[in-house]
Amino acid sequence: MPFTNNLLWVSLPIAVAAILYQLGLPALIFSSLTEHVAYKVLQSLFPTTHCYASIRTLSSRFSHAECFTVSAGKFSSVFADESSHNAVKQARTGYVYPGLWDGHGHLIQFGESLDSVSLFGVESMDEAQKRLIEYKTGHSEVGTSEEWLRGVGWDQANFRGMWPTSSDLQVDESFKDLYVMLDRVDIPAKGVFCDNAMDLVLEYYPKPNKARKTKFVKDAMVELNKLGIVGIHDAGVVPGDLKLYQELSNDEEWTVRVNAMIECDVRNTFCLEAVEKVSTSNGKLHVKSVKLFGDGALGSWGSAMIEPYSDKESSSGSLLINATTLSQVTHDWAMAGYQVNIHAIGDLANRLAIDAFEAALNTLCPQIAPSECQTNHRFRIEHSQIIHPDDQRRMLELGIIPSIQPTHATSDMGYAESRLGQQRTRDEAYRMRSLHPLRPVLGSDFPVEPANIFEGMYAAITRRSPHTGLDPSGGKNGWYPEETLTLEQALEGFTINPAYGAFLEGKAGVIETGAYADWVVLDEPLESMDLESLRKMTVRETWVAGMRVYQRPGDEDLTL
Ligand SMILES: *[C@@H]1O[C@H](CO)[C@@H](O)[C@H](O)[C@H]1NC(C)=O
Ligand SMILES: [Zn+2]
Repeated sequence: MPFTNNLLWVSLPIAVAAILYQLGLPALIFSSLTEHVAYKVLQSLFPTTHCYASIRTLSSRFSHAECFTVSAGKFSSVFADESSHNAVKQARTGYVYPGLWDGHGHLIQFGESLDSVSLFGVESMDEAQKRLIEYKTGHSEVGTSEEWLRGVGWDQANFRGMWPTSSDLQVDESFKDLYVMLDRVDIPAKGVFCDNAMDLVLEYYPKPNKARKTKFVKDAMVELNKLGIVGIHDAGVVPGDLKLYQELSNDEEWTVRVNAMIECDVRNTFCLEAVEKVSTSNGKLHVKSVKLFGDGALGSWGSAMIEPYSDKESSSGSLLINATTLSQVTHDWAMAGYQVNIHAIGDLANRLAIDAFEAALNTLCPQIAPSECQTNHRFRIEHSQIIHPDDQRRMLELGIIPSIQPTHATSDMGYAESRLGQQRTRDEAYRMRSLHPLRPVLGSDFPVEPANIFEGMYAAITRRSPHTGLDPSGGKNGWYPEETLTLEQALEGFTINPAYGAFLEGKAGVIETGAYADWVVLDEPLESMDLESLRKMTVRETWVAGMRVYQRPGDEDLTL
């Protein structure tokens, strides 16, 4: 009888656990059982205590601990172990940090990119073609009108500055008549169709169905957990996908917390009737913000600038929305109680975003200072890439949160100065330290950049490429090193700052009583590591809601 079987299977370990728990033995003895479904049931029933060589809490109450107890997916106590013998303490391995958060990424697109050919880092058209053929050989089914062959990561700078054309895709017989779409390295400027012109193509792109999207989400979460990531800010989710998220977020396999920004089906509109605020009881899905789009990307001269580009004097980029509408839509969402996050790259787009926020704050809170009002609304600028010095001051005064991707700076540093000229680059571009008082939310913009947070930390701390370890001149000084962050600041940017930027302070990015029991285990303390080893850093384990969601292969015997 299946019922009896199930009952036995589960009840046996529970009985053992109950006895041990009575004896006061630490439940971490059970971690050998962690792959067992019954163990997961146990974990939700009994508090479990975990001790490590050291625990960085990032809590304002105390910075370090040795043990914590988890109950019902949250930390129920965090403490220094006074009782154990020194020999026991010294035998403990592993350095623990709060689980990492990526403050700006795209979940479904990331899952989809795992299912497509990577053109990141290709240095010639030949190499791009070679990768395409290789991929097609292993995925013979793709390329139909229902399932296009997708790729991402090319950059015309590596094609000797020549924009690719469809004839470059006539690579061999197997590519004849295929449906192929290859996204440029900064996805907002897809292919040779720039920004808004991309809609022409996207209209024909066969939208992945629910089953494929579900697969993308799950694949993405597995991959993110491998990188020590326990939470993300999903920077633009349409109402239909939000419904899918709500369905999936109760699954065991939903192992990354998602703070989703709403993106209306028609961009830059007020679609209140299509959405609802969400905060699931398991803390796995939060919806309380909206994403608006000011402009396009710098690489394709799409970002909206106050003055023309230095290497294209006929153009100063283009806005995707005018100032009047941006202010109106910002105001409408804010009045409805939503946080507004505006994508702004160029200094004109950033200025208009700040104007819109300032106007909204004045209307929302006529009685108090706008900066005080901002602590309730937490308006953000996604990317905050090129900002006029006057507007940097306004951001600091108003307290507007910059959401910054440090690897965008190091990916763009090779050409940014030619686009912007020296003075604009020095005074306006890719500020990090200048904006640090605003507690920047750091992220990667995956799949636009690799999702590895340690690469982002390295980029922020050194202003050098995490791929080569070098600055644009081939040296080690870093690109405008006066804008570097410290390790501490970078760590905050991927933990407590994204928590604040998602109204999750005290719940995420921190190890303290009452917070979600999410943590990563590293081999060495970050503080004493050689910076260069950050580039190759891997995590030993990742835990979400008190469950181990990733363990590095080969490390099974490191766990007590
Ligand atoms: C701004 O855009 C809206 C919507 O596209 C349009 O109706 C309006 O006339 C524009 N306003 C200005 C000042 O261009
Ligand atoms: Zn993005």
